[in-house]
Amino acid sequence: MRRTEPLRALVRETHLEPGALILPLFLCPGEGVRREIGSMPGVFNLSVDEAVKEAEAAAALGIGGLLLFGLPESKDEQATGAWDEEGIVQLGLRALQQSSAAKKLVLMADVCLCEYTSHGHCGMVKKDGDEYEIENDSTLGLLARTAASLARAGADVVAPSDMMDGRVAAIRDALDEAGLDQVPILSYASKFASAFYGPFREAADSAPQFGDRRSYQMDGANVREAMREIDLDLGEGADMILMKPAMPYLDVIRAARERYDVPIGAYQVSGEYSMLQAAFARGWLEPKRAMMESLVSIRRAGAGFIVTYFAEEAAKVLG
Ligand code: PBG
Repeated sequence: MRRTEPLRALVRETHLEPGALILPLFLCPGEGVRREIGSMPGVFNLSVDEAVKEAEAAAALGIGGLLLFGLPESKDEQATGAWDEEGIVQLGLRALQQSSAAKKLVLMADVCLCEYTSHGHCGMVKKDGDEYEIENDSTLGLLARTAASLARAGADVVAPSDMMDGRVAAIRDALDEAGLDQVPILSYASKFASAFYGPFREAADSAPQFGDRRSYQMDGANVREAMREIDLDLGEGADMILMKPAMPYLDVIRAARERYDVPIGAYQVSGEYSMLQAAFARGWLEPKRAMMESLVSIRRAGAGFIVTYFAEEAAKVLG
Protein backbone atom coordinates (compact mmCIF):
# COMPACT_ATOMS: atom_id res chain seq x y z
CA MET A 1 0.00 0.00 0.00
CA ARG A 2 3.02 2.29 0.01
CA ARG A 3 4.08 1.75 -3.59
CA THR A 4 2.59 4.88 -5.22
CA GLU A 5 1.49 8.30 -3.98
CA PRO A 6 -2.18 7.70 -4.94
CA LEU A 7 -2.12 4.50 -2.89
CA ARG A 8 -0.47 6.23 0.05
CA ALA A 9 -3.00 9.06 -0.19
CA LEU A 10 -5.88 6.57 -0.20
CA VAL A 11 -4.82 4.97 3.07
CA ARG A 12 -3.54 8.10 4.80
CA GLU A 13 -5.05 8.47 8.26
CA THR A 14 -4.23 12.08 9.09
CA HIS A 15 -4.92 15.10 6.91
CA LEU A 16 -4.09 18.74 7.21
CA GLU A 17 -5.80 21.69 5.60
CA PRO A 18 -4.91 25.39 5.60
CA GLY A 19 -8.12 26.16 7.50
CA ALA A 20 -6.74 24.29 10.51
CA LEU A 21 -3.75 26.62 10.78
CA ILE A 22 -3.68 29.80 12.86
CA LEU A 23 -0.96 32.39 12.25
CA PRO A 24 0.37 34.43 15.20
CA LEU A 25 1.04 38.13 14.47
CA PHE A 26 3.00 40.61 16.60
CA LEU A 27 1.57 44.11 16.27
CA CYS A 28 3.76 47.12 16.99
CA PRO A 29 3.31 50.90 16.84
CA GLY A 30 4.19 52.93 13.76
CA GLU A 31 3.48 52.77 10.07
CA GLY A 32 5.14 50.70 7.40
CA VAL A 33 7.05 48.74 10.05
CA ARG A 34 8.08 45.20 9.16
CA ARG A 35 10.91 44.21 11.49
CA GLU A 36 12.19 40.65 11.39
CA ILE A 37 12.74 38.83 14.71
CA GLY A 38 16.40 37.78 14.99
CA SER A 39 15.68 34.33 16.40
CA MET A 40 12.63 33.71 14.17
CA PRO A 41 13.45 34.06 10.46
CA GLY A 42 10.30 34.87 8.49
CA VAL A 43 8.45 36.29 11.53
CA PHE A 44 8.02 40.05 11.94
CA ASN A 45 6.88 42.80 14.25
CA LEU A 46 4.24 44.48 12.09
CA SER A 47 2.63 47.88 12.33
CA VAL A 48 -1.13 47.77 11.92
CA ASP A 49 -1.08 48.71 8.21
CA GLU A 50 1.43 45.91 7.50
CA ALA A 51 -0.60 43.47 9.60
CA VAL A 52 -3.63 44.15 7.44
CA LYS A 53 -1.58 43.24 4.34
CA GLU A 54 -0.36 40.07 6.07
CA ALA A 55 -3.94 39.18 7.02
CA GLU A 56 -5.04 39.57 3.43
CA ALA A 57 -2.25 37.25 2.28
CA ALA A 58 -3.19 34.73 4.99
CA ALA A 59 -6.85 34.86 3.98
CA ALA A 60 -5.93 34.31 0.32
CA LEU A 61 -4.02 31.17 1.36
CA GLY A 62 -7.09 29.83 3.16
CA ILE A 63 -5.61 30.02 6.64
CA GLY A 64 -8.13 29.59 9.46
CA GLY A 65 -7.30 32.61 11.56
CA LEU A 66 -4.84 34.88 13.30
CA LEU A 67 -3.69 35.04 16.91
CA LEU A 68 -2.76 38.60 17.84
CA PHE A 69 -0.08 39.78 20.26
CA GLY A 70 0.94 43.37 20.92
CA LEU A 71 4.04 45.40 21.65
CA PRO A 72 2.84 48.55 23.42
CA GLU A 73 4.39 52.04 23.25
CA SER A 74 5.21 51.81 26.94
CA LYS A 75 4.94 49.36 29.81
CA ASP A 76 3.94 49.83 33.45
CA GLU A 77 3.10 47.86 36.59
CA GLN A 78 -0.64 47.84 35.81
CA ALA A 79 -0.19 46.60 32.21
CA THR A 80 -2.22 49.59 31.01
CA GLY A 81 -1.43 48.84 27.36
CA ALA A 82 -3.26 45.51 27.63
CA TRP A 83 -6.70 46.94 28.50
CA ASP A 84 -6.43 50.43 27.03
CA GLU A 85 -9.24 50.94 24.50
CA GLU A 86 -6.58 52.50 22.25
CA GLY A 87 -4.06 49.71 22.91
CA ILE A 88 -2.07 48.30 20.03
CA VAL A 89 -4.07 45.09 19.63
CA GLN A 90 -7.37 46.97 20.03
CA LEU A 91 -6.30 49.33 17.20
CA GLY A 92 -5.18 46.35 15.14
CA LEU A 93 -8.48 44.53 15.64
CA ARG A 94 -10.51 47.53 14.52
CA ALA A 95 -8.39 47.88 11.38
CA LEU A 96 -8.51 44.17 10.63
CA GLN A 97 -12.27 44.04 11.10
CA GLN A 98 -12.53 46.75 8.41
CA SER A 99 -10.44 44.71 5.96
CA SER A 100 -11.66 42.14 3.47
CA ALA A 101 -9.63 39.49 5.32
CA ALA A 102 -11.95 39.66 8.34
CA LYS A 103 -14.72 37.74 6.61
CA LYS A 104 -12.44 34.77 6.01
CA LEU A 105 -10.36 34.68 9.19
CA VAL A 106 -11.10 34.01 12.84
CA LEU A 107 -9.46 36.88 14.69
CA MET A 108 -8.16 35.59 18.00
CA ALA A 109 -6.64 37.87 20.61
CA ASP A 110 -4.16 36.55 23.15
CA VAL A 111 -5.07 37.73 26.64
CA CYS A 112 -2.06 38.17 28.90
CA LEU A 113 -0.25 40.95 30.71
CA CYS A 114 3.40 39.98 30.17
CA GLU A 115 3.87 42.05 27.03
CA TYR A 116 2.51 45.09 28.89
CA THR A 117 4.00 44.91 32.40
CA SER A 118 7.29 46.67 33.11
CA HIS A 119 8.56 43.53 34.89
CA GLY A 120 7.45 41.14 32.13
CA HIS A 121 5.41 38.81 34.36
CA CYS A 122 1.94 37.65 33.36
CA GLY A 123 0.35 38.96 36.57
CA MET A 124 0.63 41.56 39.29
CA VAL A 125 3.82 41.26 41.32
CA LYS A 126 4.25 41.72 45.05
CA LYS A 127 7.93 42.43 45.70
CA ASP A 128 9.74 42.35 49.01
CA GLY A 129 13.50 42.85 48.54
CA ASP A 130 14.70 39.93 46.44
CA GLU A 131 11.57 37.94 47.22
CA TYR A 132 8.58 38.26 44.95
CA GLU A 133 5.24 36.67 44.41
CA ILE A 134 2.84 36.73 41.46
CA GLU A 135 -0.53 37.76 42.85
CA ASN A 136 -3.16 35.52 41.35
CA ASP A 137 -6.37 37.15 42.52
CA SER A 138 -5.48 40.79 41.95
CA THR A 139 -4.54 39.88 38.37
CA LEU A 140 -7.96 38.49 37.48
CA GLY A 141 -9.72 41.84 37.21
CA LEU A 142 -7.16 43.18 34.77
CA LEU A 143 -7.28 40.06 32.63
CA ALA A 144 -11.08 40.27 32.52
CA ARG A 145 -10.90 43.95 31.61
CA THR A 146 -8.35 43.17 28.88
CA ALA A 147 -10.50 40.40 27.40
CA ALA A 148 -13.63 42.59 27.34
CA SER A 149 -11.73 45.42 25.72
CA LEU A 150 -10.30 43.10 23.03
CA ALA A 151 -13.72 41.60 22.34
CA ARG A 152 -15.25 45.08 22.10
CA ALA A 153 -12.54 46.02 19.58
CA GLY A 154 -13.52 43.08 17.40
CA ALA A 155 -11.85 39.88 18.61
CA ASP A 156 -13.87 36.86 17.45
CA VAL A 157 -12.23 34.74 20.16
CA VAL A 158 -10.29 35.67 23.30
CA ALA A 159 -7.43 33.39 24.34
CA PRO A 160 -6.10 33.76 27.90
CA SER A 161 -2.50 32.52 28.18
CA ASP A 162 -1.57 33.81 31.64
CA MET A 163 -2.25 30.62 33.68
CA MET A 164 -3.79 32.43 36.67
CA ASP A 165 -6.41 30.34 38.51
CA GLY A 166 -9.96 31.52 38.02
CA ARG A 167 -9.31 33.69 35.02
CA VAL A 168 -11.72 31.92 32.67
CA ALA A 169 -14.65 32.56 35.05
CA ALA A 170 -13.60 36.18 35.51
CA ILE A 171 -13.34 36.69 31.75
CA ARG A 172 -16.68 34.99 31.09
CA ASP A 173 -18.38 37.28 33.62
CA ALA A 174 -16.78 40.38 32.16
CA LEU A 175 -17.76 39.42 28.60
CA ASP A 176 -21.34 38.68 29.63
CA GLU A 177 -21.62 41.93 31.56
CA ALA A 178 -20.32 43.89 28.57
CA GLY A 179 -22.96 42.32 26.32
CA LEU A 180 -20.29 40.24 24.61
CA ASP A 181 -21.81 36.90 25.52
CA GLN A 182 -21.32 35.58 21.97
CA VAL A 183 -17.52 35.69 22.23
CA PRO A 184 -15.97 32.27 22.90
CA ILE A 185 -12.99 31.68 25.17
CA LEU A 186 -10.07 29.63 23.93
CA SER A 187 -8.22 28.86 27.12
CA TYR A 188 -4.54 27.97 27.13
CA ALA A 189 -5.57 25.42 29.74
CA SER A 190 -2.51 23.24 29.50
CA LYS A 191 0.50 25.51 29.34
CA PHE A 192 3.87 24.33 30.55
CA ALA A 193 6.75 26.46 31.84
CA SER A 194 8.92 25.89 28.80
CA ALA A 195 12.34 26.86 27.50
CA PHE A 196 10.76 26.76 24.04
CA TYR A 197 9.11 30.17 24.58
CA GLY A 198 12.52 31.87 24.41
CA PRO A 199 12.30 33.34 20.89
CA PHE A 200 8.72 34.56 21.49
CA ARG A 201 10.00 36.69 24.33
CA GLU A 202 12.26 38.44 21.86
CA ALA A 203 9.37 38.82 19.39
CA ALA A 204 6.97 40.15 22.03
CA ASP A 205 9.59 41.82 24.22
CA SER A 206 8.13 39.99 27.20
CA ALA A 207 10.99 38.28 29.03
CA PRO A 208 10.53 38.50 32.82
CA GLN A 209 12.99 41.03 34.28
CA PHE A 210 13.54 38.79 37.32
CA GLY A 211 12.68 35.21 38.21
CA ASP A 212 10.77 32.93 35.86
CA ARG A 213 7.23 31.70 35.17
CA ARG A 214 7.45 28.43 37.08
CA SER A 215 5.15 29.59 39.86
CA TYR A 216 2.22 29.91 37.45
CA GLN A 217 2.95 27.80 34.37
CA MET A 218 2.96 24.02 34.73
CA ASP A 219 5.85 21.69 35.45
CA GLY A 220 6.70 19.84 32.23
CA ALA A 221 6.69 16.51 34.04
CA ASN A 222 2.97 16.56 34.84
CA VAL A 223 0.27 15.11 32.62
CA ARG A 224 -2.34 14.47 35.35
CA GLU A 225 -2.07 18.07 36.45
CA ALA A 226 -2.65 19.16 32.85
CA MET A 227 -5.94 17.25 32.85
CA ARG A 228 -6.92 18.95 36.11
CA GLU A 229 -6.17 22.38 34.63
CA ILE A 230 -8.38 21.56 31.64
CA ASP A 231 -11.17 20.36 33.97
CA LEU A 232 -11.04 23.62 35.89
CA ASP A 233 -11.08 25.82 32.79
CA LEU A 234 -13.96 23.91 31.19
CA GLY A 235 -15.85 24.13 34.47
CA GLU A 236 -15.39 27.89 34.43
CA GLY A 237 -16.79 28.17 30.90
CA ALA A 238 -13.92 27.74 28.45
CA ASP A 239 -15.29 26.84 25.00
CA MET A 240 -12.07 25.48 23.49
CA ILE A 241 -8.69 24.59 24.88
CA LEU A 242 -5.16 25.17 23.68
CA MET A 243 -2.26 22.86 24.46
CA LYS A 244 1.23 24.33 24.58
CA PRO A 245 4.00 23.68 23.58
CA ALA A 246 3.09 21.04 21.00
CA MET A 247 5.87 18.70 19.82
CA PRO A 248 7.51 18.07 23.21
CA TYR A 249 4.03 17.40 24.70
CA LEU A 250 2.28 15.24 22.08
CA ASP A 251 1.32 12.73 24.76
CA VAL A 252 -0.50 15.44 26.70
CA ILE A 253 -2.44 16.45 23.56
CA ARG A 254 -3.38 12.81 23.02
CA ALA A 255 -4.51 12.43 26.64
CA ALA A 256 -6.67 15.55 26.38
CA ARG A 257 -8.19 14.42 23.07
CA GLU A 258 -9.23 11.10 24.58
CA ARG A 259 -10.74 12.69 27.63
CA TYR A 260 -12.53 15.86 26.48
CA ASP A 261 -15.08 16.43 23.74
CA VAL A 262 -14.31 20.10 23.17
CA PRO A 263 -12.35 21.59 20.28
CA ILE A 264 -8.64 21.26 21.03
CA GLY A 265 -5.88 23.32 19.46
CA ALA A 266 -2.13 23.07 19.94
CA TYR A 267 0.47 25.81 19.77
CA GLN A 268 3.68 24.93 17.95
CA VAL A 269 5.63 27.55 19.87
CA SER A 270 8.47 29.85 18.91
CA GLY A 271 11.29 27.54 20.01
CA GLU A 272 9.86 24.66 18.02
CA TYR A 273 9.85 26.95 14.97
CA SER A 274 13.29 28.42 15.63
CA MET A 275 15.04 25.10 16.10
CA LEU A 276 13.68 23.85 12.81
CA GLN A 277 14.64 27.11 11.08
CA ALA A 278 18.15 26.86 12.53
CA ALA A 279 18.53 23.40 11.09
CA PHE A 280 17.09 24.53 7.73
CA ALA A 281 19.61 27.40 7.60
CA ARG A 282 22.45 24.92 8.00
CA GLY A 283 21.06 22.54 5.43
CA TRP A 284 20.68 19.89 8.12
CA LEU A 285 16.98 19.24 7.55
CA GLU A 286 14.80 19.39 4.45
CA PRO A 287 12.56 22.40 5.18
CA LYS A 288 9.33 21.40 3.49
CA ARG A 289 9.31 17.80 4.67
CA ALA A 290 10.39 18.54 8.23
CA MET A 291 7.83 21.34 8.56
CA MET A 292 4.96 19.19 7.31
CA GLU A 293 6.03 16.20 9.41
CA SER A 294 6.05 18.36 12.53
CA LEU A 295 2.54 19.66 11.80
CA VAL A 296 1.12 16.24 10.95
CA SER A 297 2.53 14.85 14.21
CA ILE A 298 0.61 17.47 16.17
CA ARG A 299 -2.57 16.80 14.24
CA ARG A 300 -2.14 13.03 14.66
CA ALA A 301 -1.76 13.49 18.40
CA GLY A 302 -5.27 14.93 18.40
CA ALA A 303 -5.15 18.67 17.82
CA GLY A 304 -7.97 19.94 15.61
CA PHE A 305 -6.20 23.19 14.86
CA ILE A 306 -2.61 24.32 15.14
CA VAL A 307 -1.22 27.73 15.99
CA THR A 308 2.03 27.88 14.03
CA TYR A 309 4.51 30.37 12.62
CA PHE A 310 4.66 28.04 9.61
CA ALA A 311 0.98 28.67 8.80
CA GLU A 312 1.61 30.50 5.53
CA GLU A 313 4.44 28.25 4.33
CA ALA A 314 2.43 25.14 5.16
CA ALA A 315 -0.70 26.51 3.48
CA LYS A 316 1.35 27.05 0.32
CA VAL A 317 2.47 23.42 0.41
CA LEU A 318 -1.09 22.23 0.99
CA GLY A 319 -2.28 24.36 -1.94
C1 PBG B 1 2.10 35.03 26.95
C2 PBG B 1 2.45 34.02 25.93
C3 PBG B 1 3.66 33.38 25.69
C4 PBG B 1 3.49 32.61 24.55
C5 PBG B 1 2.18 32.75 24.15
N1 PBG B 1 1.53 33.61 25.03
C6 PBG B 1 4.99 33.54 26.36
C7 PBG B 1 5.20 33.03 27.72
O1 PBG B 1 4.35 32.43 28.34
O2 PBG B 1 6.30 33.32 28.18
C8 PBG B 1 4.57 31.78 23.89
C9 PBG B 1 4.38 31.52 22.44
C10 PBG B 1 5.58 31.06 21.72
O3 PBG B 1 6.63 30.73 22.31
O4 PBG B 1 5.51 31.02 20.49
N2 PBG B 1 2.11 34.60 28.25
